[in-house]
Amino acid sequence: MTSPLRIAVLASGRGTNLQAILDAIAAGALDAQVVGVFSDRRRAPVLERAERAGIRAVSVQPKLFPDRQAYETELFSRINATRPDLIVCAGYMRLLGAEAVDAHAGRIINIHPSLLPAHKGLHTHQQALEAGACEHGASVHYVTAELDGGPVIAQACVPVLPDDDAETLAARVLQREHPLLVATLRLFAARRIQLHDAAILIDGHPLDVPMKLDSDNNLHPPLLTTT
Ligand code: GAR
Repeated sequence: MTSPLRIAVLASGRGTNLQAILDAIAAGALDAQVVGVFSDRRRAPVLERAERAGIRAVSVQPKLFPDRQAYETELFSRINATRPDLIVCAGYMRLLGAEAVDAHAGRIINIHPSLLPAHKGLHTHQQALEAGACEHGASVHYVTAELDGGPVIAQACVPVLPDDDAETLAARVLQREHPLLVATLRLFAARRIQLHDAAILIDGHPLDVPMKLDSDNNLHPPLLTTT
């Protein structure tokens, strides 16, 4: 028996990925506890979602600090006070500094709305359309100091349809982000995944290519059941 995974969520916006985590926990599909939600924006809707769920919701505003390092020192001291096993960036729209990332190596993941390494940064759906991509999607990856550059754990793919615009494509991707994030977190909750010298290990074996989310919301290559 393992203890429920203690998750701290770092987010800047509306918080649908947080909601997916909370819903999975409530449904008994994820053995985890969200121990705190942290935002760089004072009025981020994600904080309201956390409060409604009775979870500690904290905003730390960068503009109140002289520089990024001072801001992140405060942010991570608040996060670490909740003793998380894992820090999940779920729509956190800032680059984390090397010091914060290195101090939490292997314990911070991010969900990004593209099939990394394609379309890093912002406006990923528009980027995919402009590149003429026929497939797009989302990735969950370990965070490093390089923008959207850490090792990719798992991805969900969606087709790009002929009449898509950035909005319709974003909506199709978002629908797959939620089960992708939950399925990945189930691996963390079962303590089956680790980062070792920049290599992802699943059950102690190196993961050579990112896992893919199938239509039943399982990650492939198929993994042993987690119960
Ligand atoms: C999600 O689409 C997530 O992938 C993206 O922000 C959105 C947050 O949605 N993250 C990034 O772009 C990070 N580079 P949410 O607030 O509803 O979870």
